[in-house]
Amino acid sequence: MLIEGLEINGPEYWEIRHRRESWPRTSAWAMDIVSEQIAPESAVLEVGCGQGAFAALLKQRRMDLDVVAIDISASAIDRAKKTYGDQVDFRVADVFTLKAQIPETFDYIITIQNFEHWTPDRHIPAMRSLWSRLRPGGGVFFTGVGKAWDLTQMNYGPMEYNGQAIMAPNDYHYNNWNEQEVYDLFNNHACKARHVKFWRRRGKDRVVAEATKS
Ligand SMILES: C[S@@+](CC[C@H](N)C(=O)[O-])C[C@H]1O[C@@H](n2cnc3c(N)ncnc32)[C@H](O)[C@@H]1O
Repeated sequence: MLIEGLEINGPEYWEIRHRRESWPRTSAWAMDIVSEQIAPESAVLEVGCGQGAFAALLKQRRMDLDVVAIDISASAIDRAKKTYGDQVDFRVADVFTLKAQIPETFDYIITIQNFEHWTPDRHIPAMRSLWSRLRPGGGVFFTGVGKAWDLTQMNYGPMEYNGQAIMAPNDYHYNNWNEQEVYDLFNNHACKARHVKFWRRRGKDRVVAEATKS
């Protein structure tokens, strides 16, 4: 799908959005869960961090954590650094090639509303990449938009549901999630979670999960 000749969700698309838009808000409903669940003194990576609000607030709430946050957009990371300084180690990197770009491993990896923007064939490669940077016993926090999301609340106009994916005529969600789909994302040939725990937020319109690596 193209917007102004750009592939939606491709790196140039996000770069243009981050250049044009300011994203000061974060997902408060996920913050409460994540900041309570993470063990003291942990190393944390947030992927697809956008302009950094979630990572910065997490660090403010949990000064004991070491927080690295990455995004593919240089403009997003630039804005994050200008807004939040060096409280968080913000870096430009691609989720799909973390092992080649991020030398460290982490106790926790957080992804907030990123996977629904990738076509389904990219979900397992993304999860494999996250798993490669997760320490044994560590956890991935996944948050996504649930299938019960009230589509009338969309900013982007009406969307169509074709039985597998929700497609917007002018926007960018390929898949909204139920718990089985999130469970399957964590249990496949790329990664096997020892345990997957779910929370629901805002009715059922947001899914939050933590998967633990053996
Ligand atoms: C819908 S936004 C979510 C941003 C943030 N997590 C939030 O909740 O506000 C998706 C983000 O993923 C980033 N992104 C897209 N593809 C990426 C990739 N391959 N590697 C790293 N970041 C990516 C985009 O630049 C964008 O900031």
